Amino acid sequence: MAMQMSANSKMLPAVETFVEQVRSLFRDGGEESEIWTKVCDYLRDLLADGDLKRHAGAWPSSLAVEGKPGNLLFYEDPDYGFVLNALIKAPNLKTSIHDHGKSWTLYGVLEGGERVTRFSRSDAGPQVPNEARIEAVGAHDVVPGYIDFVPPWEIHQEVNTDQRTIGFIVRSQRSGTFVQNRFDPETGAVEQYDGPVQVPYQLA
Ligand SMILES: [Fe+2]
Repeated sequence: MAMQMSANSKMLPAVETFVEQVRSLFRDGGEESEIWTKVCDYLRDLLADGDLKRHAGAWPSSLAVEGKPGNLLFYEDPDYGFVLNALIKAPNLKTSIHDHGKSWTLYGVLEGGERVTRFSRSDAGPQVPNEARIEAVGAHDVVPGYIDFVPPWEIHQEVNTDQRTIGFIVRSQRSGTFVQNRFDPETGAVEQYDGPVQVPYQLA
C-alpha cells in the first residue's frame, strides 16, 4: 500500500496525514454518511494548517478554465477513489445552480468568503431529469474554516464576495467519472455535465 502512495508522496505533511486518516476510515468500512461525517473532523484540522494556507496563496484561479469550471486536482486515492481538489474563484464570480450527482463532497473554505444557497426540488422526477422545479430553501455565508457538507444530489450555488475565495474540496470520486445536473430555475431546464475540468497540481 505504501508503494501505491509513493507517486503522491511529495505532498505537504499535513495533507499526507489527512490522506492516511481518510484511508483508515475507508479501511474500517461502514456507512458512507458516517465516514464523511468523520472526514469532516480531519478536514477541519487540515484547513487550519499554516503550510497549506501559505501554499494556497500561489494557486491560480480555476472557476473558469477555457470557459468551463475547473478544479485543481492534487490527489486521487488508488484504493478508495476519493480525491483532493481546490476551486479558486476570482472576486464576484458565481457557480451555476448544480448538484454533485451521486458523489459525496466536503467543501472546506480555506480563504475568502462566499454565500451558499441551497435548493430543493418540488417535482417528483428522476434524479437525472430533463426538467425540474426548484426553489431556494436557505442561504448561508461561509468563512475560512467552514466545511459545507454536500451529500449526493443536493442542489446548491456558490456566489463569491468581492475577494478571492478558495475551496479545498474532498470528493468521494473524481469529477468526470459521474454525471452532474445543472439547473435553470427560470425555465425549469436541466442539463447534464461531467463536472469541472481537472487540472493536475502539485501540493508539495
Ligand atoms: Fe458544488
